[in-house]
Amino acid sequence: MRIPKLVLVILFCATAAIPFIATRIKANAEQKTALLSSDPGQYVGSESCAECHNNQTTHYTLTAHSKTNNDKYKVTERGCEACHGGAKQHVEFYTSAQKLIKEGKDAEAQALYDDGAKAKAAKMLSFSEISATQASALCMKCHENSQGRSEERFNYRRSEHMRHGVSCLDCHSSHSPKRTEFLLRDSEPNMCYQCHMDQKATFAKPFHHKVPEGGMKCSDCHNQHGGFAAKQLRNSVTGDMPCLKCHTDKQGPFVFEHAPVKAEGCQACHTPHGSTYPKMLTRPSVRLLCLECHSNTPGVPGEDDTGTGLGNRPTHNLADPRYQNCTLCHTDIHGSNKHPSFR
Ligand code: HEC
Ligand code: HEC
Ligand code: HEC
Ligand code: HEC
Ligand code: HEC
Ligand code: HEC
Ligand code: HEC
Ligand code: HEC
Ligand code: HEC
Ligand code: HEC
Repeated sequence: MRIPKLVLVILFCATAAIPFIATRIKANAEQKTALLSSDPGQYVGSESCAECHNNQTTHYTLTAHSKTNNDKYKVTERGCEACHGGAKQHVEFYTSAQKLIKEGKDAEAQALYDDGAKAKAAKMLSFSEISATQASALCMKCHENSQGRSEERFNYRRSEHMRHGVSCLDCHSSHSPKRTEFLLRDSEPNMCYQCHMDQKATFAKPFHHKVPEGGMKCSDCHNQHGGFAAKQLRNSVTGDMPCLKCHTDKQGPFVFEHAPVKAEGCQACHTPHGSTYPKMLTRPSVRLLCLECHSNTPGVPGEDDTGTGLGNRPTHNLADPRYQNCTLCHTDIHGSNKHPSFR
């Protein structure tokens, strides 16, 4: 009885895993298929392109990619052909067709265009005809690990973006970016809002980081290219590090640490994007926030077990409005070097 059961369980698990394994195999296969010819003989350089592709060529000279158009780069990684592949047959094909037309040999030109095999061989790589994974893999040929600012070092393969089929080209455009710098399709945060509508709503709340106003960017806290932390945050898992980059006074170490700041991170008490509550707290008032964890601290909620109406610790009689604003007395709520109860 036991063995058939075991077999059934294994079979069930294996069946359930098929879609996951299949997509991984497909993704890997896609990445490994060489899209571009590796034969240097197919590469003719970018000089001729201008004649027929004036727009792309003019714009290209203004972008950072024009740095690859020289003999410091291998012929297969130089200029236009680095992304579109060897152009030998492409140039020959269209040059001869143009020549025929100029000479008035329209029928011959048409015959050339109709020659399926030649037309196919003349085809350059077009990004509209490849998958998101293939496009990203092509860019990563140069941009993985080493290229770019050191702290950016691409971890694109482990990013939520890559895993959900977002490609480099959803954010960058080689030839018609809105901003030439970083070849961005749009500036932050608008570009991010296109897919993250709910974040637009959180940043519209009354107390928020000045992202919509342009005071800071999504990418100050997140690495849009992916990294090791959850939620694509820059650095630490708890989300502390992106915060401390700017709020250095909260970093400590303090003689008297407030445990949750270190243990759970800023998010124990603050929402990172925006909130309807002042200071972006997770609760409508300071008091409610504190009591969420301190309702069991002896004496703090001010329960009256003395029968005097003052509570067992008069300073914490919450019935009295004066004592409701906890941070009026516990001023150094993020940690103190003076007093164990952060006063
Ligand atoms: C003599 C003219 C001519 C030259 C030179 C030329 N192209 Fe083209 N190219 C064309 C034409 C015409 C098309 C449009 C094909 C279509 O729309 O079907 C084209 C299309 C393309 C495409 C889109 C994919 C395709 O093949 O349809 C890319 C990419 C491209 N060219 C890149 C280049 C690059 C890079 C160079 C320089 C190495 C270059 N071209 C040189 C005429 C030329
Ligand atoms: C960094 C990679 C890269 C380089 C270098 C590059 N391109 Fe492109 N090219 C692209 C991408 C990506 C697209 C798709 C449109 C976009 O993102 O702007 C494209 C689109 C095109 C198209 C439109 C055809 C189509 O597929 O729809 C032409 C033509 C073209 N490129 C020509 C050139 C020429 C000429 C050069 C050199 C001056 C060049 N490209 C250099 C990446 C590149
Ligand atoms: C042949 C190698 C190569 C390929 C392929 C390549 N790049 Fe680049 N890229 C570079 C180099 C080199 C730079 C310039 C780096 C620098 O300024 O130090 C650059 C710069 C950039 C920049 C920064 C631009 C700036 O203003 O600083 C972006 C964005 C970029 N590439 C995106 C892409 C995308 C998207 C693709 C795929 C369509 C791609 N690259 C393919 C080599 C490459
Ligand atoms: C979700 C949007 C998004 C995706 C996807 C994305 N990028 Fe970027 N990238 C950006 C933004 C935004 C910046 C500018 C950051 C800044 O302003 O500091 C940038 C900057 C860059 C830069 C220049 C700065 C640097 O780090 O050196 C390069 C190079 C680059 N991206 C390449 C790529 C490549 C290659 C891919 C795909 C593997 C890719 N990006 C995918 C949004 C994106
Ligand atoms: C001040 C730093 C900061 C800024 C600026 C910021 N984020 Fe976040 N974001 C965070 C933190 C921290 C989390 C993790 C929240 C959690 O785990 O509870 C997060 C979570 C997210 C998530 C995951 C979903 C969620 O709400 O938990 C998305 C998506 C996101 N941010 C997108 C954006 C976009 C888009 C922008 C710009 C419009 C942006 N963020 C700006 C710090 C920031
Ligand atoms: C083309 C659509 C698209 C664009 C543009 C885009 N994202 Fe995303 N982003 C996604 C998708 C899809 C996911 C994965 C699903 C999810 O978590 O929403 C994701 C995930 C994320 C996450 C991780 C959320 C988590 O739960 O782990 C963060 C953070 C994030 N994006 C930030 C940004 C930032 C910052 C920008 C702008 C620079 C941006 N995104 C632009 C589509 C996009
Ligand atoms: C790029 C710098 C930067 C980063 C990173 C950053 N902040 Fe801020 N933060 C600011 C600035 C500037 C202000 C004050 C101006 C304003 O209202 O936006 C502020 C204000 C605040 C406020 C007070 C808001 C108020 O209503 O007075 C809180 C709370 C806060 N940040 C928490 C965080 C947390 C939590 C993180 C990490 C998730 C974080 N910050 C990351 C720059 C930053
Ligand atoms: C135990 C809860 C708690 C934690 C955890 C916490 N804060 Fe706060 N924070 C508060 C409270 C409460 C206030 C409001 C103080 C007031 O109104 O007097 C505040 C106010 C702030 C302010 C605005 C006023 C000021 O002092 O500058 C900033 C900025 C801030 N916190 C950043 C952070 C950062 C960054 C972290 C993570 C390192 C963090 N907080 C962790 C409770 C917390
Ligand atoms: C996320 C839970 C959490 C929140 C919210 C929180 N605290 Fe704490 N607090 C703790 C923990 C845990 C300790 C350490 C308790 C211990 O050592 O016995 C602590 C310690 C303290 C201490 C020192 C206690 C002692 O024994 O010396 C004071 C004072 C304090 N908190 C005040 C506050 C105030 C005021 C607020 C609201 C602004 C607040 N706390 C919000 C978890 C929290
Ligand atoms: C009028 C000033 C004042 C206000 C307002 C106040 N506290 Fe206190 N709190 C104190 C003093 C003084 C102590 C130290 C008492 C002691 O050492 O016996 C203390 C001690 C504490 C302790 C440490 C208890 C312990 O056992 O050591 C906690 C936790 C605490 N308060 C939380 C709160 C919370 C939560 C609020 C808001 C509901 C609050 N306090 C409001 C003055 C105040």
